[in-house]
Amino acid sequence: MCGIVGYIGKKPAFPILLAGLKRLEYRGYDSFGFSVLDGKKPFLFKKTGKISQFEQEFPDPNGEIGIAHTRWATTGAVTDANAHPHFDCKKEIFLVHNGIIENYQEIRNQLIKEGHKFNSECDTEVLSHLIEKHFRGNLEEAVRETLREVKGTYGIAVVSKRDPQKIVVARLSSPLLLGIGQDEFLVASDPAAVITHTRQVINLDDNEIAVLKPGNFFILKEKPLETIEWERGEAEKKGYPHFTIKEIMEQPESLENTLKGRLLINEGTAKLGGLEAIQDKLRKIKRLNIIACGTARHAALVGEYMLEEYANIPAEVDSASEFRYRKPVLDKDTAAIFVSQSGETADTLAALKEVKQRGLITLGIVNVVGSSVARETDAGIYIRSGPEIAVASTKATTSQIAALALLTLFLGRQRDMALVMGQRITKELAKIPELVKKILEQDVQIEELAEKYKNFDNFMYIGRKYDYPTAREGAHKIKEVAYVHAEGCRGGELKHCELALIDENFPTVAICPSNSVYEKMMSNIEEIKARGGPIIAVATEGNEDIKNLVDDVIYIPKTLEMLTPILALIPLQLFAYHSGVLRGHNVDKPRNLAKSVTVE
Ligand code: M6R
Repeated sequence: MCGIVGYIGKKPAFPILLAGLKRLEYRGYDSFGFSVLDGKKPFLFKKTGKISQFEQEFPDPNGEIGIAHTRWATTGAVTDANAHPHFDCKKEIFLVHNGIIENYQEIRNQLIKEGHKFNSECDTEVLSHLIEKHFRGNLEEAVRETLREVKGTYGIAVVSKRDPQKIVVARLSSPLLLGIGQDEFLVASDPAAVITHTRQVINLDDNEIAVLKPGNFFILKEKPLETIEWERGEAEKKGYPHFTIKEIMEQPESLENTLKGRLLINEGTAKLGGLEAIQDKLRKIKRLNIIACGTARHAALVGEYMLEEYANIPAEVDSASEFRYRKPVLDKDTAAIFVSQSGETADTLAALKEVKQRGLITLGIVNVVGSSVARETDAGIYIRSGPEIAVASTKATTSQIAALALLTLFLGRQRDMALVMGQRITKELAKIPELVKKILEQDVQIEELAEKYKNFDNFMYIGRKYDYPTAREGAHKIKEVAYVHAEGCRGGELKHCELALIDENFPTVAICPSNSVYEKMMSNIEEIKARGGPIIAVATEGNEDIKNLVDDVIYIPKTLEMLTPILALIPLQLFAYHSGVLRGHNVDKPRNLAKSVTVE
């Protein structure tokens, strides 16, 4: 989604803004723009398309203060005029914005009546005109007055030649952080944009306004400095052709990081520092709602099975986008768990607000440190996957499942999970990174399989119990990176509908490890076979019999049933990745999608 970068310091701003925007490209965008305060005449450049298309024609403006933006269109078509920065009637105030101004139409009509001339259809433009209207010599005051009139969400950065030695920034429900450097400051919507300059950041909270000046900055409230724990190189491709494959291949390490220092094998439980302060409250919890979107929701579904089976707590998964529109029955003994890679997904945050209003305990399972979900929940578990740049989530997903397994241990051992069972789970979890490494060695075979199946336009993914979410996620992945239609279905539901789709042109990926539902899966495979559907099975190593029944087999090592989704997802991610590459798509930035969905 939209990205913001701003710079104020002693260096030319433009190259820093350009580099920052490039580091935000992974979020997906359809247009971009810059504004630099270049002496008397502010410099403005905004275009639809990708930055690389225009790099040769960029002028080289002077000026040490500037703002820049990548836009992912919501209100107003993809046009040069709708790209940010937006400006006022006199082209003296420039502003970039992430979020949505819900009452923009009403404000726009009023401003037009007052004589303001608009240049775009974008909701953001009302902000620059409102600032113009309220400007009486001090930019932050004008911004403050403006924000009192708007409804919606925003992360904004504003510069003006009328009050030129500053950038004014503000946020409400849209991420924004300040990068604190040596005699220079940055503002960005995402740590990736500042990490080459500084790792010292301050995450702005809702309703805060900050003013960045050449030698200092202030926020309306004192805030502690935080440190970004990612290494610089982690957000780079490191020789891989795409971030997607780099992140798939990183999973042995990312899972190792999720588990590091958290497995207490002798005690058969998990050490989760982030939950210690509220462990007594958690002991009393009788019900769990797990709330998430997209892939994070699939990880949540695995969590639902684990928490019910091993922690003995009734659990229910909600789509964050639906949560506040139904009437969820939540009592005081319920805790709500929010699963999110970015910690900034608008729907997930809206559900979190709703739950907080009802006074429930809230937990976050989040990757991005200091993100909104992390800050606004009562307690949580960081999944520690490192930066995930590709739009399609891979390494964060398996770490989310591992974190949910840790939570299951923690809550289960608070209840009636036996020590031996806790020890079994911890021991198996400890082996997972190694097992994932083994599966990744089959990359070449999986690429060959993707080649064999590349001309099929429809796929069915089936699984049961823990591997129903795996099937959903397998389908999600191939849809998103290869633009192939796929359905993720419970094996047992097939005969109630989806079987009607099956013929020789509709292959099925059947996730059928040797576990408690293996026989049932075999019946489902037979049903497909009888209709002539080609079948790829994901089966447990050593199962030779399955070869007689299906067309192709991908083997995964044996583990506990509850942990199988972590292993089974790896070949499905590789299959989707290679299918996308073979079809010639931009796998890292699928069309129409964004990494962090910060609008409803
Ligand atoms: O950052 P989040 O985990 O909250 O994001 C949720 C979804 O937008 C995300 O999982 C989406 O489905 C990805 N494109 C999946 O690959």
